[in-house]
Amino acid sequence: MKRVLITGALGQIGSELTERLRRDLGVDSVIATDIRKPDNNPTVENGQFETLDVQDYDSFLDMAKRYEVDTIIHLAALLSATAEQRPAFAWQLNMGGLMNGLEVARELGEGIKFFAPSSIAAYGPDAEPDSTPQDTVMHPTTMYGVTKVAGELLENYYHDKYGVDTRSVRFPGLISYKVEPGGGTTDYAVDIFYEALKNKSYKSFIAEGTYMDMMYMDDAIDAIVDLMNADSDRLDHRNAFNITAMSFAPEEIAAAIKKRIPEFEMHYEVDPVRQGIAESWPNSIDCHCAVDEWNFTPSYDLERMTDEMLMRLEKKFETEGMVAK
Ligand code: SER
Repeated sequence: MKRVLITGALGQIGSELTERLRRDLGVDSVIATDIRKPDNNPTVENGQFETLDVQDYDSFLDMAKRYEVDTIIHLAALLSATAEQRPAFAWQLNMGGLMNGLEVARELGEGIKFFAPSSIAAYGPDAEPDSTPQDTVMHPTTMYGVTKVAGELLENYYHDKYGVDTRSVRFPGLISYKVEPGGGTTDYAVDIFYEALKNKSYKSFIAEGTYMDMMYMDDAIDAIVDLMNADSDRLDHRNAFNITAMSFAPEEIAAAIKKRIPEFEMHYEVDPVRQGIAESWPNSIDCHCAVDEWNFTPSYDLERMTDEMLMRLEKKFETEGMVAK
């Protein structure tokens, strides 16, 4: 991984990955792209940035060739709840964008590295819900999940048939303070911190007792970098490794926040669509293959992540002049 093109670079993962790779590889070795180009944005301003619609194959290929990249990190996609509102468009964007990315990688030549995230959403309600195995039935019931399973298969196909060095992880819900996620089911676990600091209360759209896997963004970024740098011969699975750092239900993250902000109150106003999506996903996934094949080791549990999120967000609110208390 020497010269990297990132799509969806303004998103929750992309903005932090771009910053990390600019630090690791050098500013000129990272080409951040997104469909929009906002003013006053660090991802746009602190390095190379290009506007790219991943559905436009010619521009995608032209950009990858022009910058002579050896790695594509394809993050542009709709998340689960938005995909459920616009399923046909979700298929078009998630699969069309991925197909274009893989074709660009194939066109660039053998050995090009390619990463596109999969998700816990790739599993459906008939998979074992606890410690869900790496290799088991995958019958997702959401459009997002359908695109993730299909994406995993497509990435394996491009590896086996064309030698594209495809690698991926099934991300759980990602918790971060820099850029908010948009349109996901696990977003409640980010929203709750904003509301806890601003209003000392949160109305959860996910019901009590609903367990989902989660991970702090620093661990997610480390996972991408570690997997992309892993020795290819050790990778049996490739697309896509289960990874997780914690599994909790809304009342447990609420309790962790209340320990630090005693006035905090949790209420529930369950959204049937996102609740249905959450119930179709595992409670917790087994990630021993990622541990065995590339030494995956997350370092944030619920307690450490809660400390970090509250501290970072409080600072962010102070800097941005937002009212935190
Ligand atoms: N965080 C994602 C979502 O909720 C899951 O991959 O859609």
